[in-house]
Amino acid sequence: MTQALYRKWRPLAWDEVVSQEHVIQTLKNAVAGDHVAHAYLFSGPRGTGKTTAARLLAKAVNCLAEDKSRRPCNECAHCVAVNESRFMDVIEIDAASNNGVDDVRELREKINFSPSQGRYKVYIVDEVHMLSKPAFNALLKTLEEPPPHAIFILATTESHNIPATVLSRCQRHEFRRFPLGEIIRRLEEICKTENILADAEALSLIARQSSGGMRDAISLLDQLASTGGQVTLATAQSVLGTTTSQAVINLIEAIAARQPASAMNEIHQALDAGADVRTLARQVIEYLRQVLLVQLGNGDQLEATPDVRTQIVAHAQVLPTHELVRMMRAFNAAAIDARGGWAPSLGLELAVAELIEQPQLPIETGSAPRPVPRPAPTQPVTRQSPAKAAESAPEEPGISLENITRVWKQISNLVKQQDPKSAASGLVNSGKPLEIQNGVLQVGFVGNLLPEKFNRPEITQPVEKAMKELLGVSIPVQGFDMGGKNTLPAHVKPDGMVATALQNGGEIVDTQ
Ligand SMILES: Nc1ncnc2c1ncn2[C@@H]1O[C@H](COP(=O)(O)OP(=O)(O)O)[C@@H](O)[C@H]1O
Ligand SMILES: [Mg+2]
Ligand SMILES: [Zn+2]
Repeated sequence: MTQALYRKWRPLAWDEVVSQEHVIQTLKNAVAGDHVAHAYLFSGPRGTGKTTAARLLAKAVNCLAEDKSRRPCNECAHCVAVNESRFMDVIEIDAASNNGVDDVRELREKINFSPSQGRYKVYIVDEVHMLSKPAFNALLKTLEEPPPHAIFILATTESHNIPATVLSRCQRHEFRRFPLGEIIRRLEEICKTENILADAEALSLIARQSSGGMRDAISLLDQLASTGGQVTLATAQSVLGTTTSQAVINLIEAIAARQPASAMNEIHQALDAGADVRTLARQVIEYLRQVLLVQLGNGDQLEATPDVRTQIVAHAQVLPTHELVRMMRAFNAAAIDARGGWAPSLGLELAVAELIEQPQLPIETGSAPRPVPRPAPTQPVTRQSPAKAAESAPEEPGISLENITRVWKQISNLVKQQDPKSAASGLVNSGKPLEIQNGVLQVGFVGNLLPEKFNRPEITQPVEKAMKELLGVSIPVQGFDMGGKNTLPAHVKPDGMVATALQNGGEIVDTQ
């Protein structure tokens, strides 16, 4: 069997350790200056390098290299023996696998014998917080008066569960979670050396799913690469259960449009088709999180396939931030509460009910900022949300902004049916029919990238054709950038609350 990647990539020298500079520098100095302590406590989240650093220190204090600043050298007999796990004087005790009483008793019996091979007997006690009380007490006794040839390195993910009596006898070091960038860089390095082909977006998703730990990140990469093919975002998403399914998008749209029946329907269909409650809730949250990212101006961090990306950008234009946050909270509760039982879908249904139950909020979905500042606001300005337009629009064929708005979603569906590969459908979803000017339908987008893509005949023609099919008549369409910050009315402070509301789909209805 091949060795697991995370083991293979365990640093064997100080300078291979990623991050954790504060700890590593102190340990290196102690070795070089010959002032290694007799007891250490390494604490921090899993996969941040505690065991790695403990083994490095154990190897360094026994290394035979003349120059202390070069220890561990990884060349002398001792270093090689430690690297091959056959060095008698480095003893690892895993408190998690048994509660350690026997190990610690044995430790107490043997600790007074001198090291058999090296300079120091080094005891590495992993997950030390799991030691039973008697084992702890035994350990404490040895820590009180450690023989000069003994070094203890205790490691734990839960330093708050370590008795003060133990803490006070140890030199303490905190290991920190890695910033995303550090994990990604390490994964890239591994991919390069191991000849693994991986998409940047896939690596970034892996890194984010590992909550700051390197071991999980490397193991995930290992798992995804084990099939032999390229590690793509799609495979990563499917393994991690973060794929955005159409059900997720439909569900969010139904909630935003306050349509409980179709929201419930989406849930039941997805569950009937074998979806898992918790996974579905997670996917909804994951999707909303990305919409939020776009709204906060971090769209470059999106991890989504091109189709879904277009959808996300579209939703970022119409869903107010507070609505997003509310939805994320409700679905988070549903995910936590997904214990199954007699009604597995209950948590999701409650989330939907709660979200739709709320009275309409002052800022509505679907109303995007207009490019032109409003004139002197003496009268309230009417809103124009697609949902409202649909209610109030007369059911007659023909070209009016109302009618076009009403069938806009159908236009998107129709162009997709006619050419599933075309970008037209996604672009229609991202755009918003805003007005008819000189017989041309003006479609607003945020930013200038999307209107540029939209204004090509291979996009506009099928859109116009679909419009004709749905309404009986058609007019030319033209996309334009309705801007973000730079189109705020003159009296609105660009960094204030009103600006944020406007950018998140609000409209000024009155000013004083
Ligand atoms: N600081 C680090 N630098 C490089 N790799 C690391 C680091 N921390 C963890 N790793 C990777 O994760 C694996 C597990 O790390 P380990 O030291 O056992 O973590 P911990 O003991 O904190 O749970 C290592 O084998 C290595 O591949
Ligand atoms: Mg460990
Ligand atoms: Zn050595």
